[in-house]
Amino acid sequence: GKNLIDLDEFTTDEIDEIIQLSQKIARNPDEYHGIAKGKILAALFYEPSTRTRLSFEAAMLRLGGQVIGFSNPSASSVSKGESLSDTLRTVNAYADIIAMRHPKEGAPRVGAKYIDIPIINAGDGGHQHPTQTLTDILTITSVKKRLSGLTIGLCGDLKFGRTVHSLIKTLSRYPENKFILVSPQELKIPQYIKSQVLQKKNIEFAEAEKLEDVIQDMDILYMTRVQRERFFNEEDYIRLKDSYILDKQKMSLAKDDMIVLHPLPRVNEIAYEVDEDSRALYFDQVKYGMYVRMGLMAKLLGVK
Ligand code: CP
Repeated sequence: GKNLIDLDEFTTDEIDEIIQLSQKIARNPDEYHGIAKGKILAALFYEPSTRTRLSFEAAMLRLGGQVIGFSNPSASSVSKGESLSDTLRTVNAYADIIAMRHPKEGAPRVGAKYIDIPIINAGDGGHQHPTQTLTDILTITSVKKRLSGLTIGLCGDLKFGRTVHSLIKTLSRYPENKFILVSPQELKIPQYIKSQVLQKKNIEFAEAEKLEDVIQDMDILYMTRVQRERFFNEEDYIRLKDSYILDKQKMSLAKDDMIVLHPLPRVNEIAYEVDEDSRALYFDQVKYGMYVRMGLMAKLLGVK
């Protein structure tokens, strides 16, 4: 079966097909109940998660399939020293599709070699989070009615934030998108994204340190959490954790039709007062995340 390790391995047409199917599902989810009857998802989460795991599980249940897995590897034989490859070969015998989150970058790609059922990368370390990107672009296209000609601001921890890396790579495929990268010096976008994606494709981008200097140019503001779990020391995290706080005052500088996205969880980077602003769409995003995982699994299982 086909995997989703990195969206680079999907053509833009394939991505668009998943998005279109997910939009149909979002409009009429009951129509799709039962298409995955008899199928089993294994949700293997080696790192904490609320949205990704629960939306994968809800998605499979809503398609009429069932779910097995673990959300805490210490309750599995991983705690006895079992290797990733042995765990995956075992699960391969029980399930029809796997969604796996793992702290090691590249773990799903290595794991895919040992199994013949589809595996989906549900986040690998600070690397990629392709199903979050599908969620983000389903949200953007549903609200903005396009994925091109947009000025996209990304703000916060651009170094360790895997959702940002996947999103820039994917939105760079669509014409006339521009990026504004807002971060502290220490949390700038990795060089490989700059050189292998933005510069290589000649995409217009700017870097800034202050959100209020650039927020007025954005069609989308993608806020991110400072990724505490990826820091080498706590002092650096404490110094950087509140670098950006989006509040009502900063929102007053933005366009009337700018939308605010955030993969969540948030810590302090969006004040709760922003939630009531109609441009704040992060809880709509949460729902789109379930529909897009329904669409993705239906495609990978070949039931739609
Ligand atoms: N957006 C996201 O990946 O959230 P969780 O870490 O809660 O799954």
